[in-house]
Amino acid sequence: MVAHSMTKILCLALNPAIDISSEAEVVRHTHKTRTYNQQQFPGGGGINVARVIVTLGGTCELMFLSGGATGELLEAMLKPLPIMEQTFRIHDPVRVAFAVHETSTNLEYRFVPEGPLVTEAELEPVFDAVAASDADYVVASGSLPRGVPDDTYVRLADLVAARGGRFVLDTSGAPLSQALSRSRMFLVKPSLGEFEAFLGRKLAHDEVGPAAQAHVRTGAAEHIAVTLGGDGAILASADEIIRLPAINVPVNSATGAGDSFVAGMVWSLAKGNAIGDAFRFGQAAGAAAVMTPGTELCRQTDVVDLYERERQKGS
Ligand SMILES: Nc1ncnc2c1ncn2[C@@H]1O[C@H](COP(=O)(O)OP(=O)(O)OP(=O)(O)O)[C@@H](O)[C@H]1O
Ligand SMILES: [Mg+2]
Repeated sequence: MVAHSMTKILCLALNPAIDISSEAEVVRHTHKTRTYNQQQFPGGGGINVARVIVTLGGTCELMFLSGGATGELLEAMLKPLPIMEQTFRIHDPVRVAFAVHETSTNLEYRFVPEGPLVTEAELEPVFDAVAASDADYVVASGSLPRGVPDDTYVRLADLVAARGGRFVLDTSGAPLSQALSRSRMFLVKPSLGEFEAFLGRKLAHDEVGPAAQAHVRTGAAEHIAVTLGGDGAILASADEIIRLPAINVPVNSATGAGDSFVAGMVWSLAKGNAIGDAFRFGQAAGAAAVMTPGTELCRQTDVVDLYERERQKGS
Protein backbone atom coordinates (compact mmCIF):
# COMPACT_ATOMS: atom_id res chain seq x y z
CA MET A 1 0.00 0.00 0.00
CA VAL A 2 1.15 3.50 -0.77
CA ALA A 3 1.62 5.58 2.32
CA HIS A 4 0.11 8.98 1.70
CA SER A 5 -1.91 11.36 3.77
CA MET A 6 -5.57 10.71 3.03
CA THR A 7 -8.22 13.30 3.46
CA LYS A 8 -10.00 12.36 6.66
CA ILE A 9 -13.75 12.38 7.12
CA LEU A 10 -15.41 12.24 10.52
CA CYS A 11 -19.15 11.53 10.72
CA LEU A 12 -21.13 12.49 13.81
CA ALA A 13 -24.28 10.63 14.85
CA LEU A 14 -25.71 12.16 18.00
CA ASN A 15 -29.09 10.43 17.66
CA PRO A 16 -28.40 7.11 15.91
CA ALA A 17 -30.98 4.39 15.43
CA ILE A 18 -31.49 0.81 14.53
CA ASP A 19 -33.71 0.94 11.44
CA ILE A 20 -36.02 -2.02 11.10
CA SER A 21 -37.98 -2.36 7.88
CA SER A 22 -40.56 -4.92 6.90
CA GLU A 23 -43.52 -5.54 4.59
CA ALA A 24 -47.21 -6.12 5.17
CA GLU A 25 -50.05 -6.74 2.74
CA VAL A 26 -52.27 -4.23 4.60
CA VAL A 27 -51.59 -2.12 7.69
CA ARG A 28 -54.71 -2.15 9.87
CA HIS A 29 -55.70 -0.71 13.22
CA THR A 30 -56.80 -2.95 16.14
CA HIS A 31 -55.99 -6.20 14.30
CA LYS A 32 -52.51 -7.59 14.19
CA THR A 33 -50.56 -6.49 11.16
CA ARG A 34 -48.44 -9.49 10.21
CA THR A 35 -45.13 -8.43 8.71
CA TYR A 36 -42.50 -10.28 6.71
CA ASN A 37 -39.09 -9.73 5.09
CA GLN A 38 -37.77 -7.95 8.15
CA GLN A 39 -34.39 -6.33 7.70
CA GLN A 40 -32.35 -4.26 10.10
CA PHE A 41 -29.67 -1.69 9.48
CA PRO A 42 -27.63 0.73 11.54
CA GLY A 43 -29.29 4.10 10.95
CA GLY A 44 -29.75 7.74 11.81
CA GLY A 45 -28.26 10.55 9.73
CA GLY A 46 -24.57 10.41 10.63
CA ILE A 47 -24.44 6.62 10.47
CA ASN A 48 -26.14 6.55 7.07
CA VAL A 49 -23.61 9.06 5.74
CA ALA A 50 -20.76 6.87 7.03
CA ARG A 51 -22.31 3.76 5.46
CA VAL A 52 -22.67 5.46 2.08
CA ILE A 53 -19.04 6.64 2.19
CA VAL A 54 -18.04 3.01 2.75
CA THR A 55 -20.32 1.92 -0.11
CA LEU A 56 -18.56 4.42 -2.37
CA GLY A 57 -15.26 2.75 -1.55
CA GLY A 58 -14.07 5.11 1.14
CA THR A 59 -13.58 5.01 4.83
CA CYS A 60 -14.25 7.39 7.67
CA GLU A 61 -14.32 7.86 11.38
CA LEU A 62 -17.65 7.74 13.15
CA MET A 63 -18.54 9.15 16.54
CA PHE A 64 -21.91 8.17 17.99
CA LEU A 65 -23.82 8.14 21.25
CA SER A 66 -24.65 4.63 22.36
CA GLY A 67 -26.66 3.32 25.29
CA GLY A 68 -28.53 0.25 26.46
CA ALA A 69 -28.78 -3.16 24.84
CA THR A 70 -29.85 -1.54 21.56
CA GLY A 71 -26.60 0.44 21.68
CA GLU A 72 -24.67 -2.81 21.98
CA LEU A 73 -26.60 -4.23 19.04
CA LEU A 74 -25.84 -1.10 17.00
CA GLU A 75 -22.13 -1.41 17.80
CA ALA A 76 -22.18 -5.07 16.75
CA MET A 77 -23.93 -4.17 13.48
CA LEU A 78 -21.28 -1.55 12.70
CA LYS A 79 -18.33 -3.75 13.61
CA PRO A 80 -17.92 -5.45 10.18
CA LEU A 81 -17.73 -2.10 8.36
CA PRO A 82 -14.35 -0.49 7.63
CA ILE A 83 -15.14 2.45 9.88
CA MET A 84 -13.13 3.74 12.84
CA GLU A 85 -15.75 3.98 15.53
CA GLN A 86 -15.68 5.98 18.71
CA THR A 87 -18.69 5.46 20.94
CA PHE A 88 -19.83 7.75 23.73
CA ARG A 89 -21.71 5.97 26.46
CA ILE A 90 -25.13 7.31 27.44
CA HIS A 91 -27.61 5.94 29.96
CA ASP A 92 -30.73 5.73 27.77
CA PRO A 93 -31.01 3.11 25.02
CA VAL A 94 -30.49 3.81 21.34
CA ARG A 95 -33.85 4.13 19.54
CA VAL A 96 -35.35 1.57 17.19
CA ALA A 97 -37.13 2.99 14.15
CA PHE A 98 -39.70 0.87 12.35
CA ALA A 99 -40.91 1.11 8.76
CA VAL A 100 -43.59 -0.98 7.12
CA HIS A 101 -44.01 -1.09 3.38
CA GLU A 102 -47.68 -1.79 2.64
CA THR A 103 -47.47 -3.90 -0.49
CA SER A 104 -51.15 -3.54 -1.51
CA THR A 105 -50.83 0.25 -1.82
CA ASN A 106 -47.06 0.64 -2.21
CA LEU A 107 -47.18 3.14 0.69
CA GLU A 108 -44.58 3.28 3.41
CA TYR A 109 -45.39 3.82 7.09
CA ARG A 110 -42.47 5.03 9.16
CA PHE A 111 -42.37 5.18 12.95
CA VAL A 112 -39.45 7.19 14.27
CA PRO A 113 -39.06 7.38 18.06
CA GLU A 114 -37.71 10.55 19.62
CA GLY A 115 -34.91 8.53 21.18
CA PRO A 116 -32.89 8.86 24.36
CA LEU A 117 -32.73 11.76 26.77
CA VAL A 118 -29.09 12.85 26.82
CA THR A 119 -27.54 14.90 29.60
CA GLU A 120 -25.05 17.71 29.03
CA ALA A 121 -22.49 15.70 30.99
CA GLU A 122 -22.92 12.80 28.55
CA LEU A 123 -22.44 15.13 25.58
CA GLU A 124 -19.39 16.99 26.89
CA PRO A 125 -16.83 14.32 25.83
CA VAL A 126 -18.07 14.65 22.23
CA PHE A 127 -16.98 18.29 22.16
CA ASP A 128 -13.57 17.29 23.50
CA ALA A 129 -13.20 14.53 20.90
CA VAL A 130 -14.26 16.77 18.01
CA ALA A 131 -11.86 19.46 19.24
CA ALA A 132 -9.07 16.87 19.33
CA SER A 133 -9.89 15.42 15.89
CA ASP A 134 -7.75 16.31 12.89
CA ALA A 135 -10.40 15.30 10.33
CA ASP A 136 -10.51 17.50 7.24
CA TYR A 137 -14.29 17.11 6.96
CA VAL A 138 -16.62 16.76 9.92
CA VAL A 139 -20.11 15.77 8.81
CA ALA A 140 -22.99 16.13 11.25
CA SER A 141 -26.30 14.73 10.11
CA GLY A 142 -29.60 14.16 11.83
CA SER A 143 -31.70 15.43 14.68
CA LEU A 144 -30.33 16.25 18.11
CA PRO A 145 -31.42 13.96 20.93
CA ARG A 146 -33.67 15.31 23.66
CA GLY A 147 -31.86 17.20 26.40
CA VAL A 148 -29.16 18.47 24.06
CA PRO A 149 -29.15 22.25 23.48
CA ASP A 150 -30.18 23.56 20.04
CA ASP A 151 -26.82 25.30 19.63
CA THR A 152 -24.86 22.04 19.80
CA TYR A 153 -24.07 22.00 16.08
CA VAL A 154 -23.05 25.68 16.31
CA ARG A 155 -20.50 24.81 18.99
CA LEU A 156 -19.22 21.83 17.02
CA ALA A 157 -18.98 23.87 13.80
CA ASP A 158 -17.00 26.57 15.63
CA LEU A 159 -14.55 24.00 17.02
CA VAL A 160 -13.95 22.60 13.54
CA ALA A 161 -13.70 26.00 11.83
CA ALA A 162 -11.28 27.27 14.49
CA ARG A 163 -8.65 24.76 13.40
CA GLY A 164 -9.31 25.13 9.69
CA GLY A 165 -11.47 22.03 9.26
CA ARG A 166 -14.60 21.93 7.14
CA PHE A 167 -17.93 21.38 8.88
CA VAL A 168 -20.84 19.93 6.90
CA LEU A 169 -24.36 19.95 8.33
CA ASP A 170 -27.65 18.26 7.45
CA THR A 171 -30.29 18.82 10.08
CA SER A 172 -33.64 20.57 10.51
CA GLY A 173 -35.68 22.79 12.80
CA ALA A 174 -34.10 24.82 15.59
CA PRO A 175 -30.63 23.21 15.36
CA LEU A 176 -30.52 24.13 11.65
CA SER A 177 -31.81 27.66 12.30
CA GLN A 178 -29.20 28.23 15.00
CA ALA A 179 -26.42 26.97 12.75
CA LEU A 180 -27.58 29.06 9.78
CA SER A 181 -27.75 32.14 12.00
CA ARG A 182 -24.57 31.91 13.98
CA SER A 183 -21.94 29.59 12.63
CA ARG A 184 -19.23 29.28 10.04
CA MET A 185 -19.89 26.11 8.12
CA PHE A 186 -18.36 24.84 4.92
CA LEU A 187 -21.51 23.23 3.54
CA VAL A 188 -25.06 22.96 4.74
CA LYS A 189 -27.73 20.84 3.04
CA PRO A 190 -31.28 21.77 3.87
CA SER A 191 -34.20 20.37 1.90
CA LEU A 192 -36.40 23.09 0.38
CA GLY A 193 -38.91 22.69 3.22
CA GLU A 194 -36.17 23.01 5.84
CA PHE A 195 -34.74 26.12 4.18
CA GLU A 196 -38.20 27.69 3.89
CA ALA A 197 -38.88 26.95 7.56
CA PHE A 198 -35.64 28.73 8.44
CA LEU A 199 -36.48 31.78 6.29
CA GLY A 200 -40.09 31.78 7.46
CA ARG A 201 -41.46 32.02 3.92
CA LYS A 202 -42.22 29.91 0.88
CA LEU A 203 -39.87 30.11 -2.10
CA ALA A 204 -40.62 29.60 -5.78
CA HIS A 205 -37.94 27.40 -7.37
CA ASP A 206 -36.26 30.35 -9.10
CA GLU A 207 -36.04 32.24 -5.80
CA VAL A 208 -34.13 29.45 -4.02
CA GLY A 209 -30.68 30.09 -5.53
CA PRO A 210 -30.67 33.85 -4.91
CA ALA A 211 -32.04 33.38 -1.35
CA ALA A 212 -29.40 30.76 -0.55
CA GLN A 213 -26.65 32.89 -2.10
CA ALA A 214 -27.79 35.91 -0.07
CA HIS A 215 -27.50 33.72 2.98
CA VAL A 216 -24.03 32.48 1.99
CA ARG A 217 -22.98 36.14 1.85
CA THR A 218 -23.89 36.55 5.54
CA GLY A 219 -20.93 34.24 6.26
CA ALA A 220 -22.94 31.36 7.72
CA ALA A 221 -21.67 28.83 5.19
CA GLU A 222 -19.43 28.75 2.15
CA HIS A 223 -21.93 26.66 0.24
CA ILE A 224 -25.61 25.89 0.68
CA ALA A 225 -27.06 22.95 -1.25
CA VAL A 226 -30.85 23.05 -1.19
CA THR A 227 -32.32 19.74 -2.29
CA LEU A 228 -35.73 19.64 -3.97
CA GLY A 229 -36.41 15.89 -4.01
CA GLY A 230 -37.70 14.90 -7.46
CA ASP A 231 -37.05 18.46 -8.67
CA GLY A 232 -33.29 18.23 -8.20
CA ALA A 233 -31.06 20.56 -6.23
CA ILE A 234 -29.54 24.03 -6.17
CA LEU A 235 -26.03 24.87 -5.00
CA ALA A 236 -25.32 28.43 -3.90
CA SER A 237 -21.81 29.75 -3.32
CA ALA A 238 -20.65 33.36 -3.01
CA ASP A 239 -19.92 33.67 -6.72
CA GLU A 240 -22.12 31.10 -8.43
CA ILE A 241 -25.43 29.31 -8.38
CA ILE A 242 -25.75 25.87 -9.97
CA ARG A 243 -29.16 24.36 -10.57
CA LEU A 244 -29.47 20.69 -11.49
CA PRO A 245 -32.70 18.94 -12.41
CA ALA A 246 -33.20 15.52 -10.81
CA ILE A 247 -31.73 12.62 -12.72
CA ASN A 248 -34.49 10.57 -14.29
CA VAL A 249 -34.47 7.22 -12.48
CA PRO A 250 -37.09 4.63 -11.53
CA VAL A 251 -38.37 5.66 -8.10
CA ASN A 252 -38.51 2.86 -5.54
CA SER A 253 -37.99 4.48 -2.14
CA ALA A 254 -36.84 8.00 -1.34
CA THR A 255 -35.49 6.79 2.02
CA GLY A 256 -31.87 7.82 2.40
CA ALA A 257 -31.75 10.20 -0.59
CA GLY A 258 -30.65 13.13 1.56
CA ASP A 259 -27.97 11.16 3.41
CA SER A 260 -26.68 9.66 0.16
CA PHE A 261 -26.55 13.13 -1.40
CA VAL A 262 -24.48 14.48 1.51
CA ALA A 263 -22.17 11.46 1.56
CA GLY A 264 -21.66 11.67 -2.21
CA MET A 265 -20.73 15.34 -2.02
CA VAL A 266 -18.34 14.90 0.88
CA TRP A 267 -16.72 11.82 -0.65
CA SER A 268 -16.11 13.68 -3.91
CA LEU A 269 -14.72 16.72 -2.06
CA ALA A 270 -12.43 14.48 -0.03
CA LYS A 271 -11.01 13.13 -3.27
CA GLY A 272 -10.05 16.69 -4.17
CA ASN A 273 -12.83 17.51 -6.62
CA ALA A 274 -14.20 21.02 -7.00
CA ILE A 275 -17.47 21.90 -5.32
CA GLY A 276 -19.45 21.84 -8.59
CA ASP A 277 -18.27 18.30 -9.39
CA ALA A 278 -19.00 17.22 -5.83
CA PHE A 279 -22.49 18.65 -6.21
CA ARG A 280 -23.01 16.56 -9.37
CA PHE A 281 -21.71 13.47 -7.60
CA GLY A 282 -24.07 14.11 -4.67
CA GLN A 283 -26.91 14.42 -7.13
CA ALA A 284 -26.00 11.02 -8.60
CA ALA A 285 -25.85 9.46 -5.12
CA GLY A 286 -29.26 10.92 -4.21
CA ALA A 287 -30.78 9.55 -7.41
CA ALA A 288 -29.11 6.17 -6.85
CA ALA A 289 -30.71 6.04 -3.39
CA VAL A 290 -34.22 6.43 -4.78
CA MET A 291 -33.62 3.52 -7.17
CA THR A 292 -33.06 1.08 -4.32
CA PRO A 293 -36.01 -0.36 -2.40
CA GLY A 294 -36.78 0.23 1.28
CA THR A 295 -34.12 1.42 3.67
CA GLU A 296 -31.28 0.34 1.39
CA LEU A 297 -29.16 3.45 0.74
CA CYS A 298 -27.42 3.42 -2.65
CA ARG A 299 -25.16 1.19 -4.72
CA GLN A 300 -21.75 2.30 -5.89
CA THR A 301 -22.24 1.13 -9.49
CA ASP A 302 -25.50 3.11 -9.78
CA VAL A 303 -23.85 6.26 -8.42
CA VAL A 304 -20.88 6.04 -10.77
CA ASP A 305 -23.05 5.12 -13.80
CA LEU A 306 -25.47 7.99 -13.17
CA TYR A 307 -22.64 10.46 -12.61
CA GLU A 308 -20.92 9.41 -15.86
CA ARG A 309 -24.18 9.41 -17.80
CA GLU A 310 -25.01 12.95 -16.71
CA ARG A 311 -21.47 14.15 -17.31
CA GLN A 312 -21.59 12.86 -20.88
CA LYS A 313 -24.88 14.68 -21.41
CA GLY A 314 -22.90 17.78 -20.38
CA SER A 315 -25.40 18.79 -17.75
N1 LIG B 1 -37.48 11.21 -7.25
C1 LIG B 1 -36.19 11.50 -7.40
N2 LIG B 1 -35.58 11.32 -8.59
C2 LIG B 1 -34.27 11.59 -8.76
N3 LIG B 1 -33.47 12.07 -7.79
C3 LIG B 1 -34.02 12.28 -6.58
C4 LIG B 1 -35.39 12.00 -6.31
N4 LIG B 1 -35.64 12.29 -5.00
C5 LIG B 1 -34.47 12.72 -4.50
N5 LIG B 1 -33.50 12.72 -5.44
C6 LIG B 1 -32.11 13.14 -5.30
O1 LIG B 1 -31.72 13.11 -3.94
C7 LIG B 1 -31.46 14.44 -3.47
C8 LIG B 1 -31.93 14.57 -2.05
O2 LIG B 1 -33.31 14.29 -2.00
P1 LIG B 1 -34.30 15.11 -1.06
O3 LIG B 1 -34.36 16.53 -1.45
O4 LIG B 1 -35.58 14.35 -1.05
O5 LIG B 1 -33.55 15.01 0.33
P2 LIG B 1 -34.14 15.08 1.79
O6 LIG B 1 -35.45 15.82 1.76
O7 LIG B 1 -33.06 15.58 2.66
O8 LIG B 1 -34.42 13.56 2.05
P3 LIG B 1 -34.37 12.73 3.42
O9 LIG B 1 -35.81 12.34 3.63
O10 LIG B 1 -33.51 11.57 3.08
O11 LIG B 1 -33.84 13.65 4.48
C9 LIG B 1 -32.19 15.35 -4.46
O12 LIG B 1 -31.60 16.63 -4.52
C10 LIG B 1 -31.99 14.58 -5.76
O13 LIG B 1 -30.68 14.79 -6.22
MG1 LIG C 1 -32.90 15.46 4.76
